[in-house]
Amino acid sequence: MWPYGDGAARTCQREDPAVSGKRKGMSDEPWQFHFDPTTYLDAVRAELPDYDELQDRIAQATEGIDARSIMDLGVGTGETISRVAQRHPLARIVGIDESPEMLDVARQRLPGAEFLVGRLEDPLPDGTFELVVSALAVHHLDGPAKADLFQRVAQRLSPAGRFVMADVVVPEDPSDAVTPIDGVYDKPSSVSEQLSWLDDAGLNASVLWSRRDLAILIAERR
Ligand SMILES: C[S@@+](CC[C@H](N)C(=O)[O-])C[C@H]1O[C@@H](n2cnc3c(N)ncnc32)[C@H](O)[C@@H]1O
Repeated sequence: MWPYGDGAARTCQREDPAVSGKRKGMSDEPWQFHFDPTTYLDAVRAELPDYDELQDRIAQATEGIDARSIMDLGVGTGETISRVAQRHPLARIVGIDESPEMLDVARQRLPGAEFLVGRLEDPLPDGTFELVVSALAVHHLDGPAKADLFQRVAQRLSPAGRFVMADVVVPEDPSDAVTPIDGVYDKPSSVSEQLSWLDDAGLNASVLWSRRDLAILIAERR
């Protein structure tokens, strides 16, 4: 999602690796995008009026699963996982994000959870999870990387597990493409492509909810 209006929840900076050091999991590209946790929430709500409804719907979609372990991919400041954790108070929580700054905020909100700096393209943490959730993060991967991630998610889902993913998608009707997309850091795919990649990963996937260029997909192991 880009640009983030004047609020600039995300900034684009040129990083000099000689100065900043190359963080584990960061790409070699000279341009790096960073979300600013101090402005993120206001800006994303301004840009996606359905943001809070989306988050609530993800949390609702986790009901009915007896979750001992939950993983959030692209956890950011913890908006999704906070809502999910309320429904699964005894579950172990693991969140992954490439932004240490976003994770600092998530840690303050959920001190008992484990937050890991990492990229979704990297191997996922060991173990199995009854729930894997992700909101507005997977569209930062290109098509092959999404398909690869779905394979790795399927490997981490417990037999009765569920993957709930909400994201910006390429809508069937171009006039529904209302979320600002930069085409560089944002690489949305269509719902049908993603259902196909989830199917290839051995998951039964379906659309739980959609509105214009937002969709929530739900997938369970066959
Ligand atoms: C739009 S924010 C969404 C955050 C949160 N899930 C939410 O719903 O508010 C996207 C998040 O994905 C993270 N992100 C983007 N690309 C990533 C990647 N390749 N690997 C890990 N995290 C990534 C960003 O750092 C950011 O925190």
